[in-house]
Amino acid sequence: MTGPAARAAELRRLLERANYAYYVLDKPELSDAEYDRLFRELQELEAKHPALRTPDSPTQRVGAEPATAFQKHRHLVPMLSLANAFNEAELAEWENRNARLVPEVRTAGYTLEVKIDGAAVSLTYEKGLLVVGATRGNGLVGEDVTANLRTVVDVPLRLRGKGWPQRMEVRGEVYFSKSRFAQLNHEREQANEPTFANPRNAAAGSLRQLDPKITRSRGLRIFCFHVEAPGQKLPVATQHELLEQLTAWGFPVETHHALVPDLPRANTAIATLEQALPALDYGADGVVVKVNPLKLHAELGTVGNREPRWAVARKFAPEVQVTKLKEIRINVGRTGALNPYAVLEPVEIGGVTVTTATLHNFDLIEAKDIREGDWVEVTRAGEVIPQVLGPVRDRRTGKERKFKRPERCPVCHSKVEYPSDEVMAYCSNVSCPGRILESIVHFAAVMDIRGLGYERVRALLDAKLIKDVADLYELTPMQLLALEGFAEKSAQQLVDAIQASKKQPLSTLLNALGLRHVGAQVAKLLARHFGTMKALRNASVEEISNIRGVGTAIAEAVAGFFDETKNRKLLDRLDKLGLTFTEPTAAERKGPLAGQTYVVTGTLPSLSRAKAGELIEAAGGHVADSVSKKTTALVVGADAGSKLERAKALAIPIIDEAELLRRARAKP
Ligand code: IVH
Repeated sequence: MTGPAARAAELRRLLERANYAYYVLDKPELSDAEYDRLFRELQELEAKHPALRTPDSPTQRVGAEPATAFQKHRHLVPMLSLANAFNEAELAEWENRNARLVPEVRTAGYTLEVKIDGAAVSLTYEKGLLVVGATRGNGLVGEDVTANLRTVVDVPLRLRGKGWPQRMEVRGEVYFSKSRFAQLNHEREQANEPTFANPRNAAAGSLRQLDPKITRSRGLRIFCFHVEAPGQKLPVATQHELLEQLTAWGFPVETHHALVPDLPRANTAIATLEQALPALDYGADGVVVKVNPLKLHAELGTVGNREPRWAVARKFAPEVQVTKLKEIRINVGRTGALNPYAVLEPVEIGGVTVTTATLHNFDLIEAKDIREGDWVEVTRAGEVIPQVLGPVRDRRTGKERKFKRPERCPVCHSKVEYPSDEVMAYCSNVSCPGRILESIVHFAAVMDIRGLGYERVRALLDAKLIKDVADLYELTPMQLLALEGFAEKSAQQLVDAIQASKKQPLSTLLNALGLRHVGAQVAKLLARHFGTMKALRNASVEEISNIRGVGTAIAEAVAGFFDETKNRKLLDRLDKLGLTFTEPTAAERKGPLAGQTYVVTGTLPSLSRAKAGELIEAAGGHVADSVSKKTTALVVGADAGSKLERAKALAIPIIDEAELLRRARAKP
C-alpha cells in the first residue's frame, strides 16, 4: 500500500484509537482541534478517492447525512421474543415442558443473564466488518439503522481476534445508562423538549433518528448476547462460551452472567441477582435463563417462530400502587408547551413518597380516559419519573370528571395551539407570563442564583420590578425590601447572589438563556468551540453544525436565536451589565483532579450521585460509569455493589466522600 491508501489507513487507525481513548477509556489523547484536522484530512482523501472509503472508517461513525426514511432489512434468522416466567413455579413448568422434549435439559446447566431493558438490534458482520445494523421491527423485517448504530461508541465496526463466521448476525440490546438517561432528560427539560418516559423509549427513539448526529449525541450503549450464523460453524459449544467469545471479538457483554448446574441453583442465583439489579447503572427488567449447550437449542427449537424454547425471561413485577388522582393541572413551559400532570393522594412506591406524576400530553390522557377523581395505578421504576398507568375503572362512582382539552392557556388565557404534527399543545402568546416565569426561574437555577425560586420570581414579576433576566442585575436591596418576605439581610444576600452569577462562564450563560435544543452539554460544546459570545453570534449554521455532537437542528435553533432583534438587544444589555461572555480554555479549566477518573458507587453521606459528579467535574476530573484499570479511585458510600468488588479485584484505590472532598478541595 502506498500513497493515499496508506495515508487513509494510517488516519483511520489514529482516529479510531483517539475515539477509543476518548469514549471507552475516557482519557482523551488528541485535542479537539487535532482530531478535527485528521478527520477532515481523511474526509477529503475519501472524497477524492471514494474507493478508500471503507465501512469501518471513523468518518462513517460520526454520522452520515440525514436519511429521509429507513430501508427495510430482512433478518437472516427471525428476531424472537422471550416467554416470561413470573415465579419459581412458572420456571419449573418451563423446564418440565422442555424435559418432555429433551430430557437432558435438567442436568445440562443454565446460563443466567441480566435482561437489559432497551431496544433490540441485530448487527450483521461480513468478513469481520459491520455491514448492517437493524432494529427488530416485527421480528422478520426491521429497519436498517446502520448509520445510527455506527455512532454507538461500543458497537464494533471491525471484529477483533479470529474464528468468526464469514457472515453472522449478532443480537444485542441498545440501552441508556441510568445516569446518562437522567442527564438526557434533564438536558431536554432545560432545552424545553419533551422528556422520555423511560430509558427503553429513549433508546428506541434515539435509534430511529433520521439524523445520525442526533443519535450520536444521545450516548447510547450496547450489550450483546446472541449470534445467528446459519449453515456456518461457531467456535463454541455453549451459551456460556459464546458470551466469552463475543467479548473476545470485541462486543460488550453484560458482566453479571453466571453458569449454574440446575434449576434449584438457578433459583438461588436469580434471587441474588434480583437484589443486585436496582443498583446497576442500566435498566434491567429480569433475568434471562438459557439452556447452556447450543446443541440443545437446535433440538428444542422455537414455538411458532415466535419464542425459543431454550430461553425464558424470569421477570420481577415493578411496584405499582393505586391512589386517588385529585386533580389534573397544567404547567406552561418555557417554549409555551402545556405539560399536564396529576396531583395525587400521596402514596409510597419503592421507598419514595409520590405526590405528582406526569401525564405527558393530552392525547395520552384521552387515550387512557384518565379522569379527575379516578383511582389510578401509578408506577415508578428506577430513575424514571412516576407515571400514571391508567384508571381503575371498576372503582368509579360516577362523580369523576372527564378531562377536557383547554382552549385557553391556564396562565394567560390566550388561545391554545394544537399543531397537527405534534402531540404537544402550546400557548400562542410569546409573552405568556407562564413562559416568562419559567424562563427566569430556569435562568436563576442554571446561573446558580441561590434564593431565587418560583415564589420570588413571581413576586418580582407581579411588582413589575423585572420583565426579563437582564432586569435582575439592576435590582437593589431597597427595591427588594418593599416586597413581602424580605428583610435587610435576605435582600442583600439575593442581590449579592445575582451579582456573583455574572462570573458564570459562557457555557453556563448559554444554557441559562434557554435556547431551544441547547442544554448543558450542547452549551459546553458551543462555548468551548467558539470561546466567545461574539464568535458564536457571528457563526453560520454550517460552522455550528460542523462541531462534533451538534446537528443541523441545533445549529439552526442557535443561529435563529441570534437572528432575532429582541435577543440581540437582551445580549447587548447583559454584556453592558458585565456578564461573562467568554469560556475558559482547557488549560484554564485545569483543577486539582485534572487527568483523574473517578467512579462513584453506593449512597454517600451528604452528596447525591449527581452532585458528586458535578463536584468532580468542577475540579477538572472525569466521572466514569464503570471501574476499569484507568480508574483513579472508587468513591464508596453505603450499600456499594459489584463496583466495589471489581475495584478490589483490580486493586483500584477505594476512598470515601470525605477524601473526595479533600482531594477536590471542596467543602460539603
Ligand atoms: S435472548 C433468540 N438475552 O429481551 C434470542 N434477550 O423479550 C432471544 N434481551 O428481544 C433473546 N437482554 O432484545 C436475550 N440477555 C438477553 C437479553 C435479551 C435483553 C431482550 C432481547 C429480546 C427481548 C425479549
